[in-house]
Amino acid sequence: MKIDIIIIGVIAGLSGLFALYGTFGIIGAGAGFAVMVTYALLLKIKPKKVEEKTLFQNIRFKLPVIAVLAGIIWVLAGKFNFPVWWQIEFVAFAFVGFAFFTLLDWKTLKLEKSHFDWIKRILATYALASGIFIGVTAQLPQFDPEIELAKLNKPPVKLAGLAGPEVIAAGREVFENNKCFNCHKVFWEGNSDRGPNLGTKQIGLYTEDYIKDQILNPRRNQAPGFEDKKSKKAMPTYYGDDLSEDELSALISFLKTLRDPTHMPVEGKFPNQWTWWDDKDAIAEGKLVFEGTHPQTEGLLCAVCHGKDGIPMMTGALDFRNENNPDTTKIEGDHTDKLLKDWPDALWYRRVTRGIPETPMAAWGMIFPHLYLWKAEAYARTFHDPLDKRTAKRPVPPVPTKEEIESWKTKGLFLDPLL
Ligand code: HEC
Ligand code: HEC
Repeated sequence: MKIDIIIIGVIAGLSGLFALYGTFGIIGAGAGFAVMVTYALLLKIKPKKVEEKTLFQNIRFKLPVIAVLAGIIWVLAGKFNFPVWWQIEFVAFAFVGFAFFTLLDWKTLKLEKSHFDWIKRILATYALASGIFIGVTAQLPQFDPEIELAKLNKPPVKLAGLAGPEVIAAGREVFENNKCFNCHKVFWEGNSDRGPNLGTKQIGLYTEDYIKDQILNPRRNQAPGFEDKKSKKAMPTYYGDDLSEDELSALISFLKTLRDPTHMPVEGKFPNQWTWWDDKDAIAEGKLVFEGTHPQTEGLLCAVCHGKDGIPMMTGALDFRNENNPDTTKIEGDHTDKLLKDWPDALWYRRVTRGIPETPMAAWGMIFPHLYLWKAEAYARTFHDPLDKRTAKRPVPPVPTKEEIESWKTKGLFLDPLL
């Protein structure tokens, strides 16, 4: 080998390693070095005599490889929360690659004899590629300029003259038109989990002022579990300019409806989520509510009857220290045989918001915001299940389906007025 080629090679290799080290650190440089050594060793291997394979031999080798690759692509795309249509598209691309390489290996082309030959070949390849592209894309959903224009020219939302349900429907439309679904799911609906699922998070439990502030000043308060650098900057800051006053208030009316009377609110970024049962901040706030010192629930004092340390101050009041307490039998048609430790979230919520008729346990949900009642429940549980003794978090419930959400309304699970 010539000395000048060796020098150029060494310089190129070292620069490459240095660049890898700069971007990925020692691991990058190590990986780069390993690749170089492997490549050098491979160059040393004497090539075998090449024999042309038949089409069948070609496919037999490529098909299993592509099937494994497609599987890996599918799982990885799923892990990164790509919508299922994207997953299908990625896998389809892998198979296009398979077709392409099969075609390449199919037959060795004969030597070109005249200039005319290569022009014919280029034209044929071009025609084939265009044919495939046009054929495939014609099958995909088409962009319809009329529909897109109609969306753009839609008159802005005006609330004058609209009543409750119509305002909420208008707000849903604002949510959809402003691409909120691109980052936020609403229960089962939506395209990605970049931001919190505003349904399972139950953004509707929060005050209108809080929700408004989160939309207009998204950098002020980070949603729990979304403190990483990428999520912090993800939520756009331009909605204050884009949304008219009417649109914003319709949007908030819609968001206020996002609640779940059957589950604790869920925090965190999918798939690393948790419920308020295990959220130490929610529990700490719940303690203030329980002990009557929370500024937002002035006048509510669970401890006056249930006891500050869980020892009931009133005969008959539930003793939260005993995980084997049965459910009350005083409500006709609504009783569970489950013991306190196994009560479903829905039961806790129903008992605390609606109370138990003809007992001092009043319907607190008619007076105090449910946001704080859920937190008080999370705290009450710690009397028999202390936070620092837990070995596992309570499982995050599955995202409610469309049918379940409909059934909450028909079963009358929401209170009126909804605080
Ligand atoms: C590009 C992605 C993206 C878009 C689009 C987006 N958001 Fe967000 N949003 C996020 C992320 C990420 C967070 C969590 C981090 C934070 O709190 O800023 C978030 C947070 C929020 C919160 C606060 C949640 C909480 O726990 O307090 C609300 C409310 C919200 N978004 C509403 C909306 C609405 C309404 C729209 C459409 C008008 C929208 N977002 C559009 C990414 C997005
Ligand atoms: C004025 C007294 C009083 C206050 C305040 C009070 N409770 Fe109760 N609570 C009771 C009594 C009494 C019962 C038992 C009712 C019965 O079954 O006879 C009870 C029962 C319960 C039950 C059990 C329901 C069942 O199915 O058996 C729960 C859960 C509960 N309270 C939670 C709370 C929470 C949380 C708070 C604060 C937000 C609270 N209570 C405030 C008196 C009170």
